[in-house]
Amino acid sequence: MLRKKYILFIVFLVIVIFFFTINCLLKFLPQTDIEIIHKEEVADLIYKELEHLPDVYKYPQAQGNHIYESIRNIGNQQFHAGTLRSLWKESNSWILSNTITNISSPNLGRILKALSTARITSADIDTRGTQLKLLLTLTGDQQIVFKPKWYNKEKIIEGPVYAGKDRYQSEIIGFYLSILLQKPLVPMSAERILSLKYDILPVATKRLLNTSFDRNNRTCIYGKCFYCKKEDPICDDENDKLTGAVIFNINKSFKSYRSPWQRTYKKGKQAEWEESNNYCQSLQTKLTKNRLLDLIDTSIFDFLIQNGDRHHYEILSDKVIWVDNGKGLGNPYIQFIDILAPLYQCCMIRDKMFKSLLNLSGGQLSRKLKLMPQIDNFLTSEHLKSMEERLMLIFAAIEYCKTKIKIKSIN
Ligand SMILES: *[C@@H]1O[C@H](CO)[C@@H](O)[C@H](O)[C@H]1NC(C)=O
Ligand SMILES: *[C@@H]1O[C@H](CO)[C@@H](O)[C@H](O)[C@H]1NC(C)=O
Ligand SMILES: *[C@@H]1O[C@H](CO)[C@@H](O)[C@H](O)[C@H]1NC(C)=O
Ligand SMILES: *[C@@H]1O[C@H](CO)[C@@H](O)[C@H](O)[C@H]1NC(C)=O
Ligand SMILES: *[C@@H]1O[C@H](CO)[C@@H](O)[C@H](O)[C@H]1NC(C)=O
Repeated sequence: MLRKKYILFIVFLVIVIFFFTINCLLKFLPQTDIEIIHKEEVADLIYKELEHLPDVYKYPQAQGNHIYESIRNIGNQQFHAGTLRSLWKESNSWILSNTITNISSPNLGRILKALSTARITSADIDTRGTQLKLLLTLTGDQQIVFKPKWYNKEKIIEGPVYAGKDRYQSEIIGFYLSILLQKPLVPMSAERILSLKYDILPVATKRLLNTSFDRNNRTCIYGKCFYCKKEDPICDDENDKLTGAVIFNINKSFKSYRSPWQRTYKKGKQAEWEESNNYCQSLQTKLTKNRLLDLIDTSIFDFLIQNGDRHHYEILSDKVIWVDNGKGLGNPYIQFIDILAPLYQCCMIRDKMFKSLLNLSGGQLSRKLKLMPQIDNFLTSEHLKSMEERLMLIFAAIEYCKTKIKIKSIN
């Protein structure tokens, strides 16, 4: 009887020791493998870091303006119609395996001026994408994409991060930002004021003409695309003018891939990346490190302009390029921090990107943006302030990564 009790006691002891050991082992295992941090929690942690950012992020690191000397004062730039062909030839020569523009070319300003003023020789519907766009040809046979202005710069877009129509301002600010970041991955973009009645209809293709009509004596078109409909056209104003962005057309076919951080675009339905914070680990077997670092750079660029709609990304040779940036600048009063998920989930950043960001700290982002052509047409002071805060949030995310695991800075 006593013996039986003794054995039972031993068994009990073994079981207790077993569970105790397992418990201890789990505690000492590397935390990153089992820890699941939810999205809101990460945002809180990043905002906490924002409260005590190291001074290095707060003071100007670099003050030079040299990078974009060539694009200032576009208004004073001149070109002759006869030289256009050679300007376009130069522009197209910049499209290499890892760049699509040349920030240091002394002709950059002249080419931007040509994009916004050279004569339009033909106009067609651009069927790529889901929103109304025109494909224009300029003297000298260069094609450009025209995205019309739907909203004033003060307009606040409510709703999810991808709500609303394209903002032409976002395309141009995206281009400027690519120059400031020294990442020539955005096609040249500039503002253009044209006239549907006088510049477009006389040179329009049949299929574009077919979508044009007059409303209250103003010329309107509705184009052909997923969201295009006659009830929702773009029209000349009372002076027969229409503003928009002209974007240099890259005459190369690029491959398009589904973004691993794609949203579900369904209310209440979460994508895998939104549910697990160890998502990046699962990607490391599927994507090269170079591709991941490209996507992290992209997320930083997108976060700064608040473009939360990059459901696909484009590849030229083996490099992610930043085309189609029209969904930024929707609401300066909301920061959609999850656009930064690639950065704070992977906790990696290229050394060069980090240095470029540091170069914009301490108010340099605003100061340099304000030197860009016609900046007041595209950005309100609220948007500018908000972009400054986002830069600090990027630094906070980097600090968050440092506390979680050591952030990898890669050359
Ligand atoms: C960019 O422009 C600079 C200055 O003209 C030139 O030295 C450089 O070769 C150009 N780069 C490319 C890729 O065309
Ligand atoms: C013009 O539009 C009509 C109706 O939308 C269509 O049936 C016709 O094929 C179009 N014509 C051209 C040239 O696109
Ligand atoms: C449209 O313009 C024509 C010529 O300029 C003018 O005669 C006509 O009254 C205008 N119609 C409307 C509705 O404004
Ligand atoms: C695009 O490039 C192809 C070949 O590289 C060329 O034949 C074509 O003319 C170009 N198109 C335009 C509009 O420049
Ligand atoms: C940072 O700024 C300095 C000085 O203006 C410049 O020489 C350097 O190229 C910049 N670095 C990056 C990565 O943008």
